[in-house]
Amino acid sequence: MTSLRALPVAPKALPLVGHLIPLLRNPLEFLNSLPPHGDLVRIQLGPVPLVMICDPELTRQALVDDRVFDKGGPIFDRVREVVGNDGLASCPYSAHRRLRRLAQPAFHPARFPGYAKAMSTCIEDATGSWRAGQVLDVPTEMMTITSRITAATLFSGALPPGELGPVLHDVKTFFDGFYQRMFMVPPLDRLPTPGNRAHVRARTRLRDAFDQIIARRRIEGVDHDDLLSALIAAHDPEDDSRGMTDAEISDTVVTFFLAGTETTAALLAWALDLLARHPGIARRLHAEVDEVLGGARATHADLPRLELTHRVITETLRLRPPGWIFTRAVTADTRLGGHLLPAGSTVVYSPYLIHHRPDLYDEPETFDPDRWDPKRPQPPRHALLPFASGARKCIGDTFGMTEAVLALATITARWRLAHLPGQRQVRPALGLALRPRRLQMQVKPRIAVKEGKIVKAA
Ligand code: HEM
Repeated sequence: MTSLRALPVAPKALPLVGHLIPLLRNPLEFLNSLPPHGDLVRIQLGPVPLVMICDPELTRQALVDDRVFDKGGPIFDRVREVVGNDGLASCPYSAHRRLRRLAQPAFHPARFPGYAKAMSTCIEDATGSWRAGQVLDVPTEMMTITSRITAATLFSGALPPGELGPVLHDVKTFFDGFYQRMFMVPPLDRLPTPGNRAHVRARTRLRDAFDQIIARRRIEGVDHDDLLSALIAAHDPEDDSRGMTDAEISDTVVTFFLAGTETTAALLAWALDLLARHPGIARRLHAEVDEVLGGARATHADLPRLELTHRVITETLRLRPPGWIFTRAVTADTRLGGHLLPAGSTVVYSPYLIHHRPDLYDEPETFDPDRWDPKRPQPPRHALLPFASGARKCIGDTFGMTEAVLALATITARWRLAHLPGQRQVRPALGLALRPRRLQMQVKPRIAVKEGKIVKAA
């Protein structure tokens, strides 16, 4: 079997560090520079080679063959430190199918009206407290909304308000510095730096908080119609009706928190930034939400009519995919796109890279929600993968979309968020999710119009 040496190497590798500097300094530009060099391109993380998949069809093949392209590599090594080996997003292939069967009922369509109700309430509570002229730190505000939604839909009222704040703070600490830690080889990641210590403390406290909630719920034995109740009640029909162990539930709860909170918050923050830069699209969106909502908050029943809102969210997922880069460990010698990959190698796939390929999208850097208008020719299949594909596809895709559409519609029905004078292009902060580094916006009131009449002034 060949070694990875036969693959084209990304340019500008430096001795000892390889491509570490562009990966840390400007990874998005680095990713976009790779496709001209081949469908598979070798990059060096110091001495460690990684194989970047640059082609949409090869990405699909790797995602579908999750036995050979298993969860592993630097991203999942870090995720497993927090989530453990039993987490749905990070567990190996050997454990995955059973866990997925057990978790899937929590996302049954019949549960969505209930989740959407909790989402609408959280969104209303947060946005209803905004005041005209107030300046928001948008990523933080969105993170507050989505983590409250995750807490409300996961374990309804089980977390008293006094305990929710510290949990949310620990979630944020976990995300801060995640991307940088990915590149820290042991023992650097164990040095007692303030960042490493805060990270370890946050993940210990998070686990303790969630373990206590699960223990209380087990004792209570009551169905609260939330995600946690669904996990506790789950039985695997293919496995003698065995349910989830406490450790598996705990890992899954932490996984939902980590996988669902920052991603959706980043998506909303980018959407608000992009709308403020595209006033024509913002005006059309306002017309849609005025017509559909008439100044009220968005509910589950409104979703089918919020067509442009959906397209704005989809286009934001394309342009700024919160899940922007992931790794896989190759578990057996295999072939991908005519290349031989030895067992033990690590491959990387990136929704961001695929979404920005100029041969797949006209003007890929342009924010154009109308490219998702079904009346227009649609981009090729597999060219859009914000939620991945195959058996490891995001279990929370509909949940995240529902949350984002309800939040964006409710926010834009009442408010217009404007950049502060002098706010230039927003740079991304690199974490597990791609989110705006710094984005402050001012809240301006809007007037909602329905059937030509003013129905509500914010
Ligand atoms: C806009 C929001 C979201 C985005 C962009 C997103 C994106 C993704 C992506 C790209 C993956 C695949 C990761 C990989 O290939 O390694 C994934 C997996 C996953 N996501 Fe999401 N996600 C979102 C929201 C959510 C929500 C709300 C939840 C839970 C409530 C969630 C739970 C999960 C889980 C558990 C997995 C692992 C699934 C499996 O391996 O079976 N995600 N997500």
